[in-house]
Amino acid sequence: MKNIILITGCSSGIGLESAITLGKRGNQVIATMRNLEKRALLDQKTEESDINIEIKQLDVTDLDSIKNVARQIEKTYGKLDILINNAGFGVAGFFEELTLKEYRFQMETNYFGVINVTKIFLPLLQKRKNSKIINISSLAGLNAVPGGSAYNSSKWALEGFSECLRYELNFQNIKVFLVEPGPFPTKAIGENMIIGKYVMDKSRANYAYTSKMFQLIEKRNKRLKSKVSEVTNVITRITEGKIKRLRTKVGSRYSPQFWIRELLPFKVYEWLLMKFIG
Ligand SMILES: NC(=O)c1ccc[n+]([C@@H]2O[C@H](COP(=O)([O-])OP(=O)(O)OC[C@H]3O[C@@H](n4cnc5c(N)ncnc54)[C@H](OP(=O)(O)O)[C@@H]3O)[C@@H](O)[C@H]2O)c1
Repeated sequence: MKNIILITGCSSGIGLESAITLGKRGNQVIATMRNLEKRALLDQKTEESDINIEIKQLDVTDLDSIKNVARQIEKTYGKLDILINNAGFGVAGFFEELTLKEYRFQMETNYFGVINVTKIFLPLLQKRKNSKIINISSLAGLNAVPGGSAYNSSKWALEGFSECLRYELNFQNIKVFLVEPGPFPTKAIGENMIIGKYVMDKSRANYAYTSKMFQLIEKRNKRLKSKVSEVTNVITRITEGKIKRLRTKVGSRYSPQFWIRELLPFKVYEWLLMKFIG
């Protein structure tokens, strides 16, 4: 067995595919999800791949569920080699239309969820030298879009937290990594995206902008050629020590906006973005 790896948010998308890929590479994967009724696809893929994955209930916003899994891992393995903080989703809509509750809901999962899980699993990661924490951020943690203030700020916060944690834990030989995916065809950009309660209300000030924005996103999503395996390859390479740097972008070529911002002076980029939206 290579490593004992815990992943959050394995009911679909990047978490599910990572669990299978890392399981096939000989690791003992503990795949967690908040709702075990969604385990069928992971069960099926585990069986097809003829591997052994442990599936546990864990909601990153529920401390008891995290502690419960930590206790089980402590009892069975006595340590954890790699923690992958993957669970997340996006709340979409202009600031004016989003409620405070929606902002808090976003931060509770994408930011405080990572803090909760990392805090509780740190003692198990400390039981081994050279353990790793891999946080799944986003290009949205580096590049804001109108209508993305909730999601952008949650991933931006995750970026700052992870960079700081990398320095702090370096003293203990625990390495922290950020994976920054561009758009990938998972439920995150479809059915799991939460549109703020008032965002599509036609009487609201920003309705025209937001509806146009959703049309553009839908159009882009239909043309997307990215494959989730690109993200799982990066994650695998980090787990196997082939990537050592803090940040790895993946799928950025599917985000022209990201490259335009990288290459142009910011004021030119901003002018272009405003022109495009307007
Ligand atoms: N796909 C993209 O374009 C993209 C781009 C950049 C970054 N990302 C990031 O990649 C990560 C994985 O997303 P994905 O693309 O694989 O989308 P996904 O298929 O929607 O998967 C998200 C996973 O997170 C889980 N989750 C949400 N809230 C949770 C909570 N409170 N506790 C535990 N699990 C929770 C979901 O569980 P349920 O099934 O129960 O909802 C699901 O398993 C996210 O952090 C996302 O922000 C995705």
